Amino acid sequence: MSLSPIEMLKRQAAERAADLVRSGMRLGLGTGSTAAHFVDCIGERASQGLEVICVPTSERTRLQAEKLGLRLSTLDETPQLDLTVDGADEFDPQLRLIKGGGGAHLREKIVAAASRHMVVITDASKEVQVLGKFKLPLEVDHFGLAATLRHVEEATRALGCPGPIVLRRDAEGKNVLTDSGRLIVDCDLHAIPDPEGLATALSAIPGMIEHGLFIGLASAILVADLTGVRVVGQLPQDL
Ligand code: 5RP
Repeated sequence: MSLSPIEMLKRQAAERAADLVRSGMRLGLGTGSTAAHFVDCIGERASQGLEVICVPTSERTRLQAEKLGLRLSTLDETPQLDLTVDGADEFDPQLRLIKGGGGAHLREKIVAAASRHMVVITDASKEVQVLGKFKLPLEVDHFGLAATLRHVEEATRALGCPGPIVLRRDAEGKNVLTDSGRLIVDCDLHAIPDPEGLATALSAIPGMIEHGLFIGLASAILVADLTGVRVVGQLPQDL
């Protein structure tokens, strides 16, 4: 099957990340179109003898990995992982990310935090100097939604990035639900001057299950562009 130019870039980043994987490793599998390339690469290598245990970050990824015959586990059985490879919606030079475009950021963050290393794979279109061009996804509980969103609005205003906050709906107008059955809202903040401050403020809001800011989690970002795959940060040396 021939890939479009953008899918080729994602594939290159995924192949490079797959080169880090050795038999015996416990792997976190991310979610999204870029992470799906990585899962395919691992599937191919597993069919050639690579032996890994994989924890998926979404039902989508679990199904893909299952079809490829990968050995699956959960964080309950395997609470510590060696490496998680995942995509991102946006990243900045400090390796801070926005994730959750696919609504999986809660599980993605839990799996990344359970891993010794998180390596992100992207194409260069996701690179920004200041986070916020991509709408920040939040997973929120149904209960008290309006009150939760009022707190979110206050927090974004206080941190210098007010903007519309919209419940995510599908093409038929139905609320998008996460794998845990909760709602997603997207915050159109344009530019987030203080990602750490916003992350702290959002985490303190009751009803806010998880925000899509990933700070201090990624060890390295593999960025594919027309010239090849570039590394931002440091690839793990102790895998
Ligand atoms: C899903 C995510 C994805 O990693 C993010 O949306 C990037 O996806 P893609 O590789 O399809 O652009 O955070 O929740």
